[in-house]
Amino acid sequence: MKHYALIPAAGSGTRMGGMVEKQYLDLNSVPMIAHAMMVLAREPRIARIFVVLSPTDRRWNNYEWQGWEERIEVLRCGGRTRAETVLNGLDAISKICDPDDWVLVHDAARPCLPDELLARLIDGLADDPVGGLLAVPVADTLKRATADARVAATVPRAGLWQAQTPQMFRHGSLTQALRAAGADMTDEASAIEQWGLHPKLVESDSRNLKVTYPQDLELAGMILRKMHE
Ligand code: CTP
Ligand code: MG
Repeated sequence: MKHYALIPAAGSGTRMGGMVEKQYLDLNSVPMIAHAMMVLAREPRIARIFVVLSPTDRRWNNYEWQGWEERIEVLRCGGRTRAETVLNGLDAISKICDPDDWVLVHDAARPCLPDELLARLIDGLADDPVGGLLAVPVADTLKRATADARVAATVPRAGLWQAQTPQMFRHGSLTQALRAAGADMTDEASAIEQWGLHPKLVESDSRNLKVTYPQDLELAGMILRKMHE
């Protein structure tokens, strides 16, 4: 059974508000996506890393990717939604992957994944029949809002987790689940859940943040500097 990584990187980063797709924003002197690639490449159990770009991507080729040829394969088949991008990527690698091989789907926009959390995910799911994801137990008190941003109720946080990536499932079941679920799923686990299965939550922490808004980029830069000092 092999492990493959798939990085969906066909988004446009509308919530960042800039002109550059966020996977290419400069983060400590390299494009943000390179950080996700480096963590995955350092994990010896990952046989190959597939990067799924938009068919209209014009930035990837602006960078030098020398030295990456062995581990990385670029697929230019991104879709209109994240789920579509992932499904197109899974279809594109279906001749390489066995249905039972693991695929770790990891956001290009999560640059600070610590090596030990990646290892914990792979170890934690080694014998798992379903697969699972990194996630963090919710720490803040949660409020449900009315339409005019007043508190309607306090939602008990017990048992609530925030989903992160990587999300690790078998190539065959993930492909089938995503095809059945449609294009609007915001993560892989949702598709597996819709199928009636229960992905395993592997505890992560807040360093593995997703860069969504401009202030997240600054925070990611600080986390990376701290992790590599
Ligand atoms: N993604 C993708 N294909 C899409 C949309 C998103 O591959 N059609 C990828 C993004 O490139 C990112 C990951 O999915 O690596 C997480 O998505 P998100 O943080 O929502 O990124 P964007 O969709 O680019 O940002 P926004 O929602 O603000 O536009
Ligand atoms: Mg998005």
